[in-house]
Amino acid sequence: MRTIEWKDGTVVTIDQTKLPGTTKFLSIKNCEELSLAIKKMKLRGAPLIGVAAAYGLALTAYHSKAKEREELLRELENSANTLRRTRPTAVNLFWAVNRVLKKAEGATGDVKALIGVVVKEAQKMAEEDVEINRKIGEHGSKLIDYGDVVLTHCNAGSLATVDYGTALGVIRTAWKQGKQIKVIATETRPRLQGARLTAFELKRDGIPVTLITDSTIGYAMSNGLVNKVIVGADRIVRDAVINKIGTYTISVLAHEHDIPFYVAAPISTFDLAHTSKETTIEERSPKEITNFGSQRIAANGVDALNPAFDVTPIKYVSAIICETGILSITDFEKLTHGAMRHKS
Ligand code: MRU
Repeated sequence: MRTIEWKDGTVVTIDQTKLPGTTKFLSIKNCEELSLAIKKMKLRGAPLIGVAAAYGLALTAYHSKAKEREELLRELENSANTLRRTRPTAVNLFWAVNRVLKKAEGATGDVKALIGVVVKEAQKMAEEDVEINRKIGEHGSKLIDYGDVVLTHCNAGSLATVDYGTALGVIRTAWKQGKQIKVIATETRPRLQGARLTAFELKRDGIPVTLITDSTIGYAMSNGLVNKVIVGADRIVRDAVINKIGTYTISVLAHEHDIPFYVAAPISTFDLAHTSKETTIEERSPKEITNFGSQRIAANGVDALNPAFDVTPIKYVSAIICETGILSITDFEKLTHGAMRHKS
């Protein structure tokens, strides 16, 4: 099954907070419920958050009792604002909301026609995501050699997208090509997306995976256990890649040990109008660190710093893999300058 599906006015998705122990499906019927699911990370990962947000607007449209076009557009704008407040860093969320709103505003016809336009656009975005991931997989697999050991961080797999995955899409394609690769998955503190989701996905596909703690990365690299790194991204800005906390550390270690560091992400993750300084890094509850599940492990009164993402300067990135191909850093810089010229 796909990670997210539209079924006659309901969004069906997997509650990722319960994986891998329990596969619980959520049937979401309105945008508020969907926004809460994003906030609570029942569904997560930048491309999936984007498509989910589009479906959130589709839910609002589908169940609307609006009689006038303007009334429906106002309802969509309210839902868009609720969605925008859920998680601040993954740019796909904002990209998706803006794309659906623009489509709705530009549509002609009555309320019924407008509802059809919004639902169709969300469904189109879901289909596109799968297609884009397949292309990322095809392009990125060219960077993978027979027998490589590839380290990945967090979860950039089918669970972070509609299907197939970005970083894991590259790994899956290379595996299907018979390259006999192995994967090292970092556990990814504190939400353990690597341990709970990436290891689960790879095991299910029969791709050899070894789980390490985040603090073992230096050991693994200095002992020659890693050939390549591939991660996803939540936002690619002019000067940096913003991704799950710990990505920056991995990039610096990869640089030190001469290990290529690749980022796989769709163009909807690019935000070339901004820099890292202009990006909001989500701060999550200190409880994700002071507690283990419901059990407090740090002494009472101890506080914790819990940013969900960090900033990897472009100088540490070997290449960016997107649906149009493999961008060298020179290609990326040209794109960035082009975007700036377009802006001015
Ligand atoms: O906090 P999360 O689990 O939503 O963070 C996800 C990541 O950081 C992923 O690496 C990123 O979104 C890329 S997913 C294809």
